[in-house]
Amino acid sequence: MALRKIRIDDDPLLRMVSKKVKEVTPRIKVLVEDMFETMYKEQGVGLAAPQIGILKRIAVIDLYDDNKFVLINPIILETEGEQTGIEGCLSFPGRVGDVTRPNSVKVEATNLDGERYIIEGEGLLARALCHEIDHLDGIVFIEKAENLHDDDDINDDEDIDDNEDDDVDEF
Ligand code: NI
Repeated sequence: MALRKIRIDDDPLLRMVSKKVKEVTPRIKVLVEDMFETMYKEQGVGLAAPQIGILKRIAVIDLYDDNKFVLINPIILETEGEQTGIEGCLSFPGRVGDVTRPNSVKVEATNLDGERYIIEGEGLLARALCHEIDHLDGIVFIEKAENLHDDDDINDDEDIDDNEDDDVDEF
């Protein structure tokens, strides 16, 4: 396993559409392991392959609730409702904003065994799924965010002294 470098800000790869994965090869499995390792190191809850410079339709999600999701060639089948909440992205360090997403989504994806499966996510999981699938289409959250600002602002405005880690989830 190896840590990968996260592409940030104006990196053109973040705005490109990723290609479908034809087969879950051993190399893809290593890539997925590296993605989890890199995501954990950066304390993110999701990571998409283009964020580490690989234009393949692969994303990983772990909300630290004992569920790890590997999403290869994910597609959104259904969405329902709406939620607006604060969001961050590992590719835009220090930036946060309010993003409106579906409240629940039904996604079909391939797992590491090469099988298609269904994930139904609500709330934060729905947000993570949409954020990652956007990455695979070259869409970054700052395009959708309102009230985009530095997350340091939050701490300045609040009386939370010891809260050095920001509470905003980064995907
Ligand atoms: Ni992101």
